[in-house]
Amino acid sequence: MTSALFHTIQIALGERSYPIHIGSGLLGRSSAYDAVSVSSTALVVSNTTVAPLYAQQLITALSQKFRKVDLISLPDGEQYKTWETLNSIFDALLANSCDRKTVLFALGGGVVGDMTGFAAACYMRGVPFVQVPTTLLAQVDSSVGGKTGINHPLGKNMIGAFYQPLQVVCDLDTLKTLPDRELSAGLAEVIKYGPIADMEFLDWIEANMARLLARDVQALAHAIQRSCEIKAWVVGQDERESGLRAILNFGHTFGHAIEAGMGYGRWLHGEAVGCGMVMAAHLSCELGRVDAAFVQRLTNIIRAAGLPVVGPRLDETDNAGRYLELMRFDKKSEGGAIRFVVIDGPSRAAMRAAPDAVVRQVIDCCCA
Ligand code: NAD
Ligand code: GLY
Repeated sequence: MTSALFHTIQIALGERSYPIHIGSGLLGRSSAYDAVSVSSTALVVSNTTVAPLYAQQLITALSQKFRKVDLISLPDGEQYKTWETLNSIFDALLANSCDRKTVLFALGGGVVGDMTGFAAACYMRGVPFVQVPTTLLAQVDSSVGGKTGINHPLGKNMIGAFYQPLQVVCDLDTLKTLPDRELSAGLAEVIKYGPIADMEFLDWIEANMARLLARDVQALAHAIQRSCEIKAWVVGQDERESGLRAILNFGHTFGHAIEAGMGYGRWLHGEAVGCGMVMAAHLSCELGRVDAAFVQRLTNIIRAAGLPVVGPRLDETDNAGRYLELMRFDKKSEGGAIRFVVIDGPSRAAMRAAPDAVVRQVIDCCCA
């Protein structure tokens, strides 16, 4: 596989290490799936939007490695990231007599990827799986690092497991069919890597926003590569989020409250994270860690990516109270105390608690 656009990034996790391949034309190329041992069966897990576009290419490529390749197509949407949908993957695995060596392939965005990974972690106490992400968000974030799971009505991604894939295959060509709104949602997670780890990358994003929105393939390839490098660096040091990895949740504490409070699927995950980063930047400023110019600059970049920068009202009478209530379910909370990821200096993030009064002030200032 040689091409100017082909890159491989390694996630270094000892015996659980794996490659992320990034390039054009990978999906239908059997040689792209080089970390997979040949076995008898594969199950492709996709959804009703992505399967008609891309499942056949993947199945054709996998048919050169596997005797039997089956497909299950899940309903599409964040609101289906549930026990019921997860169970339908187990139904398909059992109905197709899948065994311990069956390899699952997650073909789709983060919703398909998170659920397929969780199914792989549980089926027969663990079978191998491969991430084939087809959204920008999944290529820069969710397919990498082994967080898998489903939502609970009371909290986002509350049920799940750390379970690493065998490899990640990002085909840039799949981004051509992504709706504009989903492209912007993916840019939220790209932007995130700047303030937390690499302000030069934020400079590059700011200067290249028009190319990214126009889907310039070189620009997208660079954004995906740099994002995956940063994520690999973080996950390589703290696979199970005992400390450092929490910085990847910049904007997510507010964002998850928006997603749950609005009802899953109303705001896209990336939209909620984009707006959540604006709120988290304001909080960082209130706590004296960054200046107002930084908050304004980050807000402008998020707005330029086509993302919302004003938070929705989650309650007509006590909006800030409702945000606080939802944020107490965040996985970073300890003993009911919310811990926020704040920007702590150039390319540096940290976990901080904040007085409720300050958080209320931030929410009041950032919401409609
Ligand atoms: P998604 O999976 O819902 O995909 C977005 C939409 O795009 C869906 O309608 C999907 O069918 C469609 N789609 C996917 N690929 C397409 C393509 N190539 N062409 C046309 N349409 C396409 O959403 P997402 O933004 O990819 O992922 C969000 C999910 O990822 C959330 O559930 C979030 O919690 C999770 N997530 C997980 C991690 C992690 O570390 N595991 C990190 C970030 C986000
Ligand atoms: N998306 C946050 C993480 O992978 O830790």
